[in-house]
Amino acid sequence: MMTLREHIRRFTGTPSPFATEPALEPIYRALFQRELAKIGEVDDFFPVGGAANYSLLYLILQVGVQLRPRSVLDIGAGQSSRLWSMLHRAGYVGDVLTLESDASWGARIAAQVDHEVLVTPLASTRAGGRASLTYDWPRARAGRRFDAMVCDGPNGTRRHSRSGILAMLDDTLPDDVVLILDDAERPGEQDTVTAIHKRLQQLGADYGVGVTRAAKTQAIFATGAYRPAIYL
Ligand SMILES: C[S@@+](CC[C@H](N)C(=O)[O-])C[C@H]1O[C@@H](n2cnc3c(N)ncnc32)[C@H](O)[C@@H]1O
Repeated sequence: MMTLREHIRRFTGTPSPFATEPALEPIYRALFQRELAKIGEVDDFFPVGGAANYSLLYLILQVGVQLRPRSVLDIGAGQSSRLWSMLHRAGYVGDVLTLESDASWGARIAAQVDHEVLVTPLASTRAGGRASLTYDWPRARAGRRFDAMVCDGPNGTRRHSRSGILAMLDDTLPDDVVLILDDAERPGEQDTVTAIHKRLQQLGADYGVGVTRAAKTQAIFATGAYRPAIYL
């Protein structure tokens, strides 16, 4: 059965605000490499397959260099982890924690970064009122508060994909925070975008939302000092 969104798209031809714009990928690649050069670094990333695409790498770089988060949670190990590690080494961002479910992939990425890669196998947990296969959030949190979070794991699901991230959106959420949800072009992630809006409203958060579209789409939620992230 068609969803309301699909009906509207079919009859009006209006693309989803989350539709990808693959033609912009080389633009983000150029912007990423230009901004990377300004901080004296080179692009040795592999934005292929399931890895972060250039618009996500660009967003992470700009959040790191311009907004300087003190504590970063990188969910789903890979190129994003390598970039956060570079930004940490260069003194732009504070502590970084990568959360990963696959032990061998986690070990492979851990060997390339200088921060902790916490591997927790996926387990069924209730988050946001529904069961989801997700990480061990209490272990990830361990008394920490993250002011920048990038959610790019675990592997996506057809509905309510990566809804485990809702476990991090409670009354301990800092006043100044940015959350980037990757793969927002997919219906499963759009369920989670909706759930994040609902949760932030329940928390009374004063937040802004942005969308970055290239080979993949990122949804950006930001409050306080991180609001500029929605315009990067
Ligand atoms: C979308 S990927 C995460 C990508 C990562 N954030 C990046 O920037 O490249 C989601 C999950 O897929 C799995 N994965 C990705 N690439 C993999 C690989 N080459 N081998 C094994 N698992 C992989 C990992 O469990 C990872 O957490």
